[in-house]
Amino acid sequence: MSYTNWTIETDSDDICWLHLDVADSSANILRKDVLQELSQILQSLAQSLPAGVIFVSDKRNGFIAGADIKEFTEINTTEEATDLLNRGHEIMNMIESLPCTTVAMIDGFCLGGGMELALACTYRVMCDSKSTRVGLPEVKLGIHPGFGGTVRSIKKAGPLAAMNMMLTGRLIQGRAAKAMGLVDDLVPLRQLKRAARYFVLQRPKQRELSIKDKIINHRLIRPLVAKQMRKQVAQKAAKQHYPAPYKMIDLWVSHMDNPKRMLQKEIESVASLVTNDTARNLVHVFFLQEKLKSQGNKKDFNGSHIHVIGGGVMGGDIAAWCALRGFRVTVQDQRAEALAGTMKRSMEMFRKKFKKDKRAIRDAMDRLVPDTNGIGVEHADLIIEAIFEDKDVKQALYKDIEPRMKEGAILGTNTSSIPLEALATCLEKPDRLVGIHFFNPVALMPLVEIVRGSNTSDETVSRALGFARHIDKLPLTVKSSPGFLVNRILMPYLLEAVEMVGEGIAPEMIDKAALNFGMPMGPIELADTVGLDVCKSVATILSGSDTLDMPLKMQKMVDNGKLGKKSGEGFYKWSKGKPQKNKQASYGNLQELQDRMILRFLNESVSCQREAVADNADLIDAGIIFGTGFAPFRGGPLHYIQSQNISQLREQLEQFKNQYGARFEADEAWASL
Ligand code: NAI
Repeated sequence: MSYTNWTIETDSDDICWLHLDVADSSANILRKDVLQELSQILQSLAQSLPAGVIFVSDKRNGFIAGADIKEFTEINTTEEATDLLNRGHEIMNMIESLPCTTVAMIDGFCLGGGMELALACTYRVMCDSKSTRVGLPEVKLGIHPGFGGTVRSIKKAGPLAAMNMMLTGRLIQGRAAKAMGLVDDLVPLRQLKRAARYFVLQRPKQRELSIKDKIINHRLIRPLVAKQMRKQVAQKAAKQHYPAPYKMIDLWVSHMDNPKRMLQKEIESVASLVTNDTARNLVHVFFLQEKLKSQGNKKDFNGSHIHVIGGGVMGGDIAAWCALRGFRVTVQDQRAEALAGTMKRSMEMFRKKFKKDKRAIRDAMDRLVPDTNGIGVEHADLIIEAIFEDKDVKQALYKDIEPRMKEGAILGTNTSSIPLEALATCLEKPDRLVGIHFFNPVALMPLVEIVRGSNTSDETVSRALGFARHIDKLPLTVKSSPGFLVNRILMPYLLEAVEMVGEGIAPEMIDKAALNFGMPMGPIELADTVGLDVCKSVATILSGSDTLDMPLKMQKMVDNGKLGKKSGEGFYKWSKGKPQKNKQASYGNLQELQDRMILRFLNESVSCQREAVADNADLIDAGIIFGTGFAPFRGGPLHYIQSQNISQLREQLEQFKNQYGARFEADEAWASL
């Protein structure tokens, strides 16, 4: 019998090799039809049993990437979810109970449902390569493993290691996976098949859990360990916003003594999670991320040399990041000490990223060349300018470098506020100037705004988008209007928070109100981190609009040299890189504070949608989530508005306008929402 997604090959040792190559999909995913076919195959195998079964992928990019996330969006009720999960469990149970040996031969990504399938096999052999990783990252989509992965990973890797992997959703590389007991062997690609065959034919003894793991799994010990786990999770994710990790801990505490029952309870738990708002919004955000990725095509940028001008906070990190991602980079600054700082920080970045891989660190360092005289200008395919935020200084530089630029090279500016049209006036070829606006810190912030000025050519925009994908950033094309997208939406929210400090409200309270909404960091701490001088200059550029006034408080602090984290004092005093918050601060009614800040955020998002600062609502939401960290479980500001009572939000804006003034004037576009 032939199948659409699977091919069966039986070798001379009577080993059945089950090849998966999911039709019409770039990656192997466990779609409904894939599982249906697998179920039929397993039934027929049970009837005429081979010596063993080896699961193998015929895709070049990995083993199995997981469940089909699109199918999640089609689930409307817990009953539908239960049906789907039951089917998955049946298949995993069939694999587990086949009387012959089963092996998963893992080369490339093995994630989520794919990992659960591998865990249902008797053995797992893994390719020792950088691109091969295993993991159960479901928590990132607001759920937890639902095809038996909770029970089976704990049985194989022990409760601490397995729970840690599932609670963080992190992916595990070969050596760590072997040490944890998640896989039975780790071999180079050329020996992978031989290793899989060995496990079928020899059936070596399986590793047992250590005494320590057994003790931690004991019903009297579990509640104590769970308490600690809940505490750790709470530092990253509040229970009311992200219930999945807490449910996973409950599942283990209550049912690990009875794995069969735990499997059943796993289904109930995931079925209840998959239909709640958090999971729906996180799945929505997953697709937003895919949309951003698809904005750029790597093929549109085929350069190999990047020249960065400005080795300060941003330029230095941009240069390092490009070298880390494989480009040859020259970095230029008028100050030798800036370049020395860049090289030092780059080394730190490479060490952090490549850990003990000395060769990778050395190669990245070799790719990054300090270039005091700007020789790289003539050779670069892309020049990124990240010098002082001053139009005249930038233009003087452009006049100097433009005649030396290579034919076909493009010029990107990291300006955070100067309109591209104003910068382009001095250029012979303004069509090749584009904004490539990174966020601070470069290594951590996934978004890059690609700013299209009125002179920027389509080709230059495509090339900048393609470049962003090469360096693994999420690019978003935005209009060259003041503040572009992210800073423009962030600023009113930040300034509202500063306004409240001016009214005498404790910064701790304001930050808490924002954290309660789900922001990753409070706005006051954020302002201190970014630097009050930077906030002030962005706010000044934006203050052309009548709804954005610079709070007096901030002006005064900047005048007095209180710039935040970098000067040791801003709204908070800073020590060892941490704000010293008043532990005694009382947190009264935070709701109104939260409403004031969030409504300004939402109102500005609505204005940006009306002005088409980015192409559509989804892209605006995506930009805001990946550029500011806006509570992902709420699905983005415009998505969030749609989930609320819109007329109530407008009434509240009106009420705040009467109380606090014109900055709460509702954008006219609310009427059409
Ligand atoms: P910075 O002051 O840390 O670094 C600027 C560097 O440029 C200095 O090292 C300076 O010596 C060098 N420089 C100035 N004029 C030069 C010239 N003519 N030739 C060679 N080198 C020159 O500034 P920062 O913060 O890195 O900002 C750079 C650009 O990035 C600005 O346009 C800023 O608006 C933008 N930006 C800054 C962000 C931040 O968080 N700091 C975030 C996003 C964008």
